[in-house]
Amino acid sequence: MSPSFVKIVEVGPRDGLQNEKVVPTGVKVSLINRLADAGLSVVEATSFVSPKWVPQMGDAVEVMAGIRRRPGVSYPVLTPNIKGLEAAIAAGAEEVAIFGAASESFSKRNINCSIAESIQRFAGVAERAQAAGLRVRGYVSCVAGCPYEGRVDPEAVAGVAKALADLGCYEISLGDTIGVGRPREIRAVVDAVARKVPIERLAVHCHDTYGQALANIHASLERGIRTVDSSVAGLGGCPYAKGATGNVATEDVVYMLEGCGFDTGVDLHALALAGEWISGELGRPTGSRVARALLAK
Ligand code: HMG
Ligand code: MG
Repeated sequence: MSPSFVKIVEVGPRDGLQNEKVVPTGVKVSLINRLADAGLSVVEATSFVSPKWVPQMGDAVEVMAGIRRRPGVSYPVLTPNIKGLEAAIAAGAEEVAIFGAASESFSKRNINCSIAESIQRFAGVAERAQAAGLRVRGYVSCVAGCPYEGRVDPEAVAGVAKALADLGCYEISLGDTIGVGRPREIRAVVDAVARKVPIERLAVHCHDTYGQALANIHASLERGIRTVDSSVAGLGGCPYAKGATGNVATEDVVYMLEGCGFDTGVDLHALALAGEWISGELGRPTGSRVARALLAK
């Protein structure tokens, strides 16, 4: 991979739609197919979580059965425990993600266990997944702040990231779940984690609640990050982080990256159309400033 390539991990169908009203399965499937057709090489498809906790992802099996798998594209799914992992394997998933947090209160609210318990649980998930030939990605939430505890120590983030890397996660995504971070804080987190996990294995996952996401991504790129999570049309949020808005819009990230001389492999126009389409299905305008500008022309 050339040093000027930035991999975008599209999380709209999962992180976006988990926080919207329940969307018909056919719409989700069509969205995932459109995103892959627009050139995204990673499209996070759904979550195998408890439907009592997140009813929006209750059709994970049907979504995985419905999508047209494009060669060269991966479709990771979230798996918080062995039950979710087994269901994901049965549904034909080739990549799963385990998701921890750098804050105890968020861990408890999101996955109903402490950080230490989560790492223990994830060890079993990662081991079984890797034995079955699946790739495992890791998330750390609340890297710049927690909705219940406020400020989070970058060293706490680094500790959880290292634990996930040690379980075999090929990539660790650093989630600013509530979008409170600013470039100086995000740089401090990236630097703290990069002292424990090689920067090539790190991604940033910026929610745009405070409008800081593009600045934070730019700061991360300057530190050497080359993997960025984002959500088409800026869909979503997190059901366990009240008030959190969606991830930064993928269209806006692609536009910025192109202008900085990075290659993404994404067709911005096709992506903007996909974002406009799903926003129409949700009954609102796209959350991407770039898509609004491009499509108004
Ligand atoms: P629990 O209640 O402690 O689990 O929840 P449990 O093992 O006691 O089981 C309770 C019930 O759930 C049982 O059903 C289980 O069978 C069922 P019952 O006997 O009551 O009928 N169950 C499941 N069903 C389907 N699939 C499963 C599963 N596991 C148990 N995998 C649990 C623990 C982890 C399951 C729950 O807390 C959960 O599902 N949490 C997921 C929350 C979630 O999806 N949050 C959003 C994703 S994370 C995020 O958005 C942040 C991120 O984007 C990064 C960032 O922005 O920072 C990644
Ligand atoms: Mg998120």
